Amino acid sequence: MSSEPFDVAAVRSDFPIFDEPINDRRLVYLDSSGTSQKPRAVLDAMTDFYESANANVHRGAYFLSDLASRRMEGARSKVAKFIGATDSAEVVFTKNATEAINLIAGSWGRVNLNKGDAVVLSMLEHHANIVPWHMLAQERGIEIRFLPVTGDGQIDLTDLDRWFDGANLVSLSAMSNVTGALTDLERVVTAAHAAGALVALDACQLVPHLPTDVAAIGADFMAFSAHKMCGPTGVGVLWARRELLEAMPPFMGGGGMIANVTTEGFTTTELPHKFEAGTPPIAEIIGLGAAVDYLSALDMHEVRRHEVELTAYFLRTIKERHGDDVVVHGPAEPSQRGGVFSFAYKDVHPHDLSQVLDQRGVSVRAGHHCAKPFMTQLGVGATARASLYIYNDESDVDELVDALSDASELFSF
Ligand code: ALA
Repeated sequence: MSSEPFDVAAVRSDFPIFDEPINDRRLVYLDSSGTSQKPRAVLDAMTDFYESANANVHRGAYFLSDLASRRMEGARSKVAKFIGATDSAEVVFTKNATEAINLIAGSWGRVNLNKGDAVVLSMLEHHANIVPWHMLAQERGIEIRFLPVTGDGQIDLTDLDRWFDGANLVSLSAMSNVTGALTDLERVVTAAHAAGALVALDACQLVPHLPTDVAAIGADFMAFSAHKMCGPTGVGVLWARRELLEAMPPFMGGGGMIANVTTEGFTTTELPHKFEAGTPPIAEIIGLGAAVDYLSALDMHEVRRHEVELTAYFLRTIKERHGDDVVVHGPAEPSQRGGVFSFAYKDVHPHDLSQVLDQRGVSVRAGHHCAKPFMTQLGVGATARASLYIYNDESDVDELVDALSDASELFSF
C-alpha cells in the first residue's frame, strides 16, 4: 500500500461535472451511493464506440459488428478480472443490479425453491433484495426469514446456525446502502455453506469501494451496478458460479440467447449469452469496461484506504461540531464500514435538510433509501444520507458540517 496521500485533486480533474457550479457554488457531491459521477475516460469510451465502432454485437460477420463484439467482450473480461473471476462467461450483463437479483429469484429460484423452502435475508436489505423474494413467496409459498440488525446498524450474525438451518439460499447486502456497514462475508459464507445453503450477495456498495475477489469470498451469486462505480446507468452485473448458471433456465427470451428456434420450441446458446436476450447496452458495457480501467489504475486498495481515512474524518468532525444534535447511524469504527452516513440533525426533516444543504451546493439524498424495513427498525421514516467516493476530500465534509449550521439557523433552533 502506498504511503502517498490519495490525490483527490487529480481525481476531481478527471470528472467534468465538477467544472460546473451548483447554485453559484462548487459542487459538493455526497450522493455516490445513489450514483457515482463519471470520469471523462468513461464518457469518451462510450462516445468513441458510437463514433468509430457502432454496430450490433454477435449478429454480423462484417467488420464493425466484429469490432463492437470484441469491444464488448473485452469489457466483460475486464469486469471478470476486476472481481477475481477466472471465467468471464460467469459475468452476465443485466440492466442493473435489481435485474440481476430478479434473475436469481426468477431463474434459479423458480427451478429450485418450492413450498417449505426458505430464503434468509436481513432487515437492512435494499428493496431490490426483498421484493423479488416476496414475489417468489407469493408464487411458490416459500418462507422468508429476516436476520435482525444490531444497534449499530450491522446485520446481526449471532446464532447463524439456527437462522440458516434448513435454508436453501442466504441473500444479503455486503455493505449497507443506509449505514455503510460491512457484512462479515467469511462468517456468512462459512455458516451458510455448512447449512447447505447457497449465498447471494448484493454487492452494489461493495464492488465500487473495496477490492473484491469472488474466489476468496466464496459466495455463489453476486450482483452489482455499473453506475455506482464510475460507469454509466443501464448496465448491471450478475456474477455466478458456472455450474449454477449452466443449470439455470433463461430469464428472458428473445434474440441472442438461442441456439435454435423452431415452431415447436427453442434451445439456448452458451453462457453468458443465454441470459442476455435482446440487444445489450453495448456502449454502456464498454463504458463499464473503461470505469474498471479507471478504478484499477487508482488501485482499489488505495480507494479503500482513502475512504477509511475520510470516514474517520467525517465521524470525528460532525461530532466535534454538532455533538448530540446529530445522530449518525451505523458502526462507529471506520474499518467496519464504508463512507455512507445516514443521519438525523435536530428535528429537521431530512427532506428540508437536503434542500437547505443544496443551497450551498451540497448534494445529499433524503428518504427511505429503498430500505423501508430498515427505516422501521431504526425508528425513523427517513434519513438524510451523505455518501463519499474517490473525488471527495475533507473540504467536502467541512462544507456539509458548515451547511448543517445554516440549517440550524434557518429553522431557528
Ligand atoms: N440504491 C441506490 C441508493 O441507495 C439508488 O441510493
